[in-house]
This record gives sequence, C-alpha cells and structure tokens, in this order.
Amino acid sequence: MTTERSGPVDVHALTWLLPKGMRSRLGSLADAASVLASVRDARVLRALAPAGFRGLVLREGKQGRPTETRARHIVHFDWSYPSDHPGMRALYGRAKKGQWNSDTALPWSTSVDPFDPAVRLLPEGFIDFDALARAGARLEGKERLELVHCLTSWMLSQFLHGEQGALFAAAQVTEAVQFFDGKLYGSTQVMDEGRHVEVFHRYLDQKLGKLYAINDNLFVIIDALMSDGRWDMKFLGMQIMVEGLALGAFGTLYKQTSEPLLRELLRYVIRDEARHVHYGVLALREHIGQLSERERREREDWTFEVALLMRNRFLAYEIYEEWFEGIMSRKAWRSFITSTPGMRSFRQTMFTRLVPNLREIGLVPARMLARYEQAGLLQYMGGLAADRLDGDGMIAELDAERDPKGTRGTAVLQA
Ligand SMILES: [Fe+2]
Ligand SMILES: [Fe+2]
Repeated sequence: MTTERSGPVDVHALTWLLPKGMRSRLGSLADAASVLASVRDARVLRALAPAGFRGLVLREGKQGRPTETRARHIVHFDWSYPSDHPGMRALYGRAKKGQWNSDTALPWSTSVDPFDPAVRLLPEGFIDFDALARAGARLEGKERLELVHCLTSWMLSQFLHGEQGALFAAAQVTEAVQFFDGKLYGSTQVMDEGRHVEVFHRYLDQKLGKLYAINDNLFVIIDALMSDGRWDMKFLGMQIMVEGLALGAFGTLYKQTSEPLLRELLRYVIRDEARHVHYGVLALREHIGQLSERERREREDWTFEVALLMRNRFLAYEIYEEWFEGIMSRKAWRSFITSTPGMRSFRQTMFTRLVPNLREIGLVPARMLARYEQAGLLQYMGGLAADRLDGDGMIAELDAERDPKGTRGTAVLQA
C-alpha cells in the first residue's frame, strides 16, 4: 500500500505521535464523547448512559471475554392460555411452516474464494478506491480484494452480534409479553434467531475465516435493550429498530453480492426476519395508542435519537484501526466511509424498511416531521409497513431491483 497525506493537518495528527494502542484509545474516547453529545434529549441520554459507559468507555464488547448484563424485566405468566390475538396466532402458524434446517437447506459445500474477482463478495464500485487514495491510502490489485474481504467480514460479524442480541431479546420478550398468542409466536422467533446466529457464524468461520469484535455503538444499543425493564422498549428497540435496520441491511447485501452461498443464506434469513418485524408492528400498534402522552413522547424521542445513532455511527472503525490508523485521521476515514457508494446505499435501504414501520405504530407525530425531514428520513415515510409485506414479496422486489430486465417482482400484499 502506498500512502499519501494531503489537506490541512487537523488535531488528530498530533495523536499520530503516540504509540498505536494509546492513539486508538484516545480516538475512540473522543468518538464516545461525540456520540453521547449527539443525543439531544435528556431522558434518552439518561436511558442510554449506563450502556454508553460500558460500551464506549470501558469497551466491554472488545475485552475478549464474555459480557454479563443484568436483566430487569417482569416475567408474565397466564395460566388460562387465552386465544387473545388472531394476527399473532396467524403469524405463529406461518412461522411453524417457515422453519428450515440450516444443515440441509443451504449449500454449504459451495467453495468460497473471497479473492476471486469473478465471484465478488461485493460489487466493484462498492468502495470508491479513488476517494480512498485521496484520503491518503492507495490500494491496488489484491489489496483491494483483501479490503473487500475484511469489510464483508466486518459487516457479517456485526450481523452475527446483532443476531445474538436478537436471540436473547426474543427470549426476554417471550417471557414479558402479555399476549399468549404472542408467546407462542415468540417461541418460533427464538428458534429463528438461534439458527441465524448459527448460519452467520458458520459462514464467517468456514468461508471467510475472519470474525470482528462487536462495534461499540451496536454494543450500547443491545446492552441498553437487554437491561431496560419495559417490555415495549425491548420490542421497539429490537423488533422494530434493530430488526428493521437489519432487514434493510440483509436486503442490500442480498442484492449486491454475487457469492451464491451468501445469497442463499440471506434469502432464508430475510424470510424469517420479515415475520419478526411484522410481529413487532402487531404488538406495538395497539400498545402505543394506549400510552399516556408523556410515555408516548418519550418513545417518539427515543426512537428518533436511536435511529440517528444507528445511521451515523456504524463507521467501521474496526476496519480503520486494522488498516489505516496512522495513515489517515479518524476524521478523514469518517468522511470517506460515510460517502463511499456501497455504504451510502446500505444506509438508504435500511431506512426504507424502518421508517414506514415507525409511522405505522404511531411514533412519528406531526411535531417530529421537521426533524425527520432535516435528517433526510421523511422520504421513506410512504413505504409499506411490515404487516403489509411478507418475506417472499421482499425477495421478489430485491431480485427485480438486482435484475431490472428480468420479470419484475412486486411486493406481495397479504390477504
Ligand atoms: Fe435474526
Ligand atoms: Fe429477527
């Protein structure tokens, strides 16, 4: 790799004089401060602060040992086993039929060569290498494929860590939810998430040979949701926000990768995830309408702040620290990674899946529209919410977007 430094020297340049470990620590502390400072709502900040301290300052997710988080939710039993939610009961029926065996459904014998330019993990053009050179690092030939391999492994590692969070959240929510039909449905989601953990880990371990630590900001969100005692906040955070964004991210990767095993894996996972988000919409739509104004406002603000955190903060610093620390500043990396075409398209597609669900459950009131507009999120408001889409419909749409000349798929509306 040849390196070029250009542009004015910023304050980060001074930290280049420090040993690498200390430099990285200072950079991540500065980033932690800016993450917490970016949360403008005091109640949201209070709710996220303990997890923020554990994730951003102590960097619990990066210590190479298991993490323990105290859960505080109430477990809700019902000894009369009521049939209390036809929509959830129907989803439970679909989930039972939709189960699949990860050993036999996926073609694990596919040979995956991350460095084969004929079968690309990510399309050419996903990373703007000219912009990277302008930011200070010129990569050529094999190095470019190596960076793509690392970036793909990083993204799939974050999916895997998110799936571990989803597995535990699904189990907690199954205990805490007050609908009995929701508990039955929830048991299938626990199985689904277990299978997702298994397949993402197997792909990373056997096919890519690389696993990255959890991103600090993802740790904060998962840690905050695990320890929040309110069942609806877990639902909102996990079933709507994390799952909704993950569904968008899986869809983007499904559309972009040419690697056949990864595509098939994502196709199966997307079909499961579509049910999970649908469940979140069903459970929260009624509930949000019954909250007091104060409670509803808190959830509206929390949702907006967390959406922004998730949009602005997954900046692949783990890749920066591995490849470019000492070559370019964190600031230069941030501006490169947020504008590189593939990551931009990820951010966009993620919100096409999330924002319509927020609208549908009643968390985007008129008073927030200007803030959504300012954040560039209002454009996604008109899309179909998860209760009007199913997994096969989403796959058909993604296939049509990937191959616009083929038979055009349309989103399948449920009867
Ligand atoms: Fe999942
Ligand atoms: Fe899920």
